[in-house]
Amino acid sequence: MKIQIIIDGRMVQVEQGTMIIEAAGKAGIVVPTLCHHEAIKPYGSCRLCIVEVVQNKQHRLVTSCNSPVDNGGMEVFTDTAGVRRIRRSIIELLLARCPDVPVLQTMARQMGIESSRLKKKNDKQCILCGLCVRFCEEVVGVAAIGLANRGTEREVATPFKTGSAVCVGCGSCSYICPTGCIEMVPDKLDPRLRSLTMGSLSLPSCNNNLQCDSCTTDQEFLDEMKLAVSEFRNLAEKTPS
Ligand code: SF4
Ligand code: SF4
Ligand code: FES
Repeated sequence: MKIQIIIDGRMVQVEQGTMIIEAAGKAGIVVPTLCHHEAIKPYGSCRLCIVEVVQNKQHRLVTSCNSPVDNGGMEVFTDTAGVRRIRRSIIELLLARCPDVPVLQTMARQMGIESSRLKKKNDKQCILCGLCVRFCEEVVGVAAIGLANRGTEREVATPFKTGSAVCVGCGSCSYICPTGCIEMVPDKLDPRLRSLTMGSLSLPSCNNNLQCDSCTTDQEFLDEMKLAVSEFRNLAEKTPS
């Protein structure tokens, strides 16, 4: 069933149950994100996509990637002073964790942040958005990596941090990662092959010896992923201030 919703003063018609972020996109409004991708289920980890919803005279803040529109007279505001303040705090927190990540630096500049007021805690590159983990599970279908540990020790890893028996070396996790945290590098033992590294963790090389030209599945998959990731990065760069 189609319903109408007003977003930033623009009327848009979408199917009931559409996530607010998608409805905003349909109205030509870009909501900043770091953990959303249309090919996988919403996860709601980065909180950057926060918007203000007014319904029955009640105001509330919701994450737009995992909050559906409904037909109860909902109005959405994606760029209020309160929303911008929260987004700035989120970026500052992320910058304190990952000060050298270009996508965060770009978003910070677009939000008018010169540098994080918070003390730099470390030089990690992983923002724990979970995109790589979810892509590996939902799109590649192997679940070779997961988010392990708690608190400051939380990280992306294979089970028991050993080489994965199920990783197919497709490189999707590397393509989808918004921060460049997962790298594809020449295999130490055979430079013709590709290895994936996440910090100290190495994943096995491609089973097909990276003969991508002769592997139609891999080639189609990589083309699709490159396109998806470049769209994702373009979207991040267009984040409104
Ligand atoms: S390279 Fe391995 S860990 Fe990365 S998405 Fe592909 S199967 Fe998953
Ligand atoms: S490795 Fe990259 S994609 Fe995976 S959780 Fe960290 S930042 Fe996100
Ligand atoms: S995009 Fe919604 S929480 Fe990250």
